[in-house]
Amino acid sequence: MPIAPPSDVLIIGGGIAGLSLALRIADKARVTILAKAALTEGASLYAQGGVAAVLNGEEDSFESHIQDTLDAGAGLCHRDTVEFAVREGPEAIHWLIERGVPFSQEKHNGLLEYHLTREGGHSHRRVIHAADATGRAMETTLEAQVRRHPNITLHENHIAIDLITSQKLGRPGPNRCLGVYALDKEDGHIRAYGARFLVLATGGACKAYLYTSNPDTSTGDGIAMAWRAGCRVSNLEFVQFHPTCLYHPRAKSFLISEAVRGEGGKLTLPDGQSFMQDHDPRGELASRDIVARAIDYEMKRGGLDYVHLDISHKPADFIKDHFPTIYQRCREYGYDITRVPIPVVPAAHYTCGGVMTDLSARTDLDRLYAIGECSFTGLHGANRLASNSLLECLVFAKAAAEDILKLLPTAGPVSESLPAWDESRVTDPDEQVVVSHNWDELRRGMWSYVGIVRTSKRLQRAQHRVNMLQEEVREFYSNFKVTNDLIELRNLLLVSELIIRSALARRESRGLHFTRDYPQAQTSAPQDTILTPAPLEVSGRRANA
Ligand code: FAD
Ligand code: SIN
Repeated sequence: MPIAPPSDVLIIGGGIAGLSLALRIADKARVTILAKAALTEGASLYAQGGVAAVLNGEEDSFESHIQDTLDAGAGLCHRDTVEFAVREGPEAIHWLIERGVPFSQEKHNGLLEYHLTREGGHSHRRVIHAADATGRAMETTLEAQVRRHPNITLHENHIAIDLITSQKLGRPGPNRCLGVYALDKEDGHIRAYGARFLVLATGGACKAYLYTSNPDTSTGDGIAMAWRAGCRVSNLEFVQFHPTCLYHPRAKSFLISEAVRGEGGKLTLPDGQSFMQDHDPRGELASRDIVARAIDYEMKRGGLDYVHLDISHKPADFIKDHFPTIYQRCREYGYDITRVPIPVVPAAHYTCGGVMTDLSARTDLDRLYAIGECSFTGLHGANRLASNSLLECLVFAKAAAEDILKLLPTAGPVSESLPAWDESRVTDPDEQVVVSHNWDELRRGMWSYVGIVRTSKRLQRAQHRVNMLQEEVREFYSNFKVTNDLIELRNLLLVSELIIRSALARRESRGLHFTRDYPQAQTSAPQDTILTPAPLEVSGRRANA
């Protein structure tokens, strides 16, 4: 069956962006969700600290949240986007509470109130959370509602490969998005999915790096698909490195939440000496770019494999109540964090740049939207403020929902005649080692040459290697049947190329982008790094290629 039944709105991704959009739309339209793994597997599931929003109007204010976001963003945030996201924050949280998300509560003056924690760069306590597993609480609550909604069709273990556009099919008129090809990983078939509107909610691209807090799904697929379909991307040089991931040979991608520092955790060298005050007067609560760079500096200076994060001075019950997941996981690795410090290192955490959108989440391509981490809305500037990502997912899912529902009545029918995926000239791959080796080489190279501290020479070296790997993968992609790993590697290589190009284009250091060759920020008006794809080439081999 080459063509799947069409829907009004097809959402690619089951993270907070995708699930909240689906629930905002499904009472009025037929929705399909494609997710390349189990529905909830993605960064959202692992979010720890919480969601930033102004919920205590007596002590906090919109102006303060706006200012903190602008300060973290180092001159590149779009003020209109920041104001929009911050002002929409309380509605987004109330929507989640109405849906039943069990945020943590504590007694205050005898009354039960939502507990607000603090994270780096925030001048107030404004991060609502569900202990230290906020993402899991949000995802599982929304997942249950999505699964039982009669208007939502789910296709798990389906990886989207490429968008189908009218231009790629050689159809006349303005270019628009008609659907997507996706590989069903269970039966091995590739089908065309048509829809009146498509939404990319595919998350970030931090799997481009050897060390990352991100799950395996974060391979930049949405950014790569949008680029290949002709959409501009922006600010991809700003890769956020989270300062504190657990350092342990067996601990893959385990984050130690910034809320640990927010609640008093101290960063120290192995001899117990603290060092953050030497780098920033805000100490442990400086913004993430500064803390990650300080740790990187201290590790290189002392030849260290890690530094320590110590919260053991707090009462044991406080630690277990606020950080049950972190406590438990660290115990499994032999660290009782109520008694000993945690060994930590920085790791790639968040993709600040992405597919350019407007305030309704529309991309450059008609009928295509992008929301969540794969998008670039202008909210984060050169450095995302902690817990503003889940906020962005929620606020822009609502904005996209409103825009799509407004347009649906006049959007016309789904294009019924999408061509089947052409596999006539490909065979089964002879060996997978090319894919696994290149994947490994890419991630090591990105870590070594495009990491926390960059130089032009390192970036050029990385560019050269990525170009070579792309050549090999292009050949492999043209001759062999696609697999999940090949699709992801092709996308990661493309996004890595775009990250490097963006980094080379920025001849200054700003926010998360630090280069020794241009160590200062330029004083003149800072600009976004916008990359525009070359005009589409229509290939005869596959309608999507
Ligand atoms: P994701 O949650 O990553 O979901 C992407 C979805 O798209 C997945 O379902 C994936 O399978 C699917 N997908 C991807 N490609 C394809 C494809 N080709 N075909 C089909 N499906 C596809 N932010 C905060 O604001 N607060 C926090 O406390 C916080 N903590 C974090 C902790 C960790 C460990 C991590 C990794 C991130 C954290 N972040 C936090 C960042 C935040 O969690 C993410 O930015 C956010 O969850 C992204 O949501 P999303 O819906 O855009 O993408
Ligand atoms: C954390 O809990 O430290 C992650 C918060 C974020 O990425 O916004």
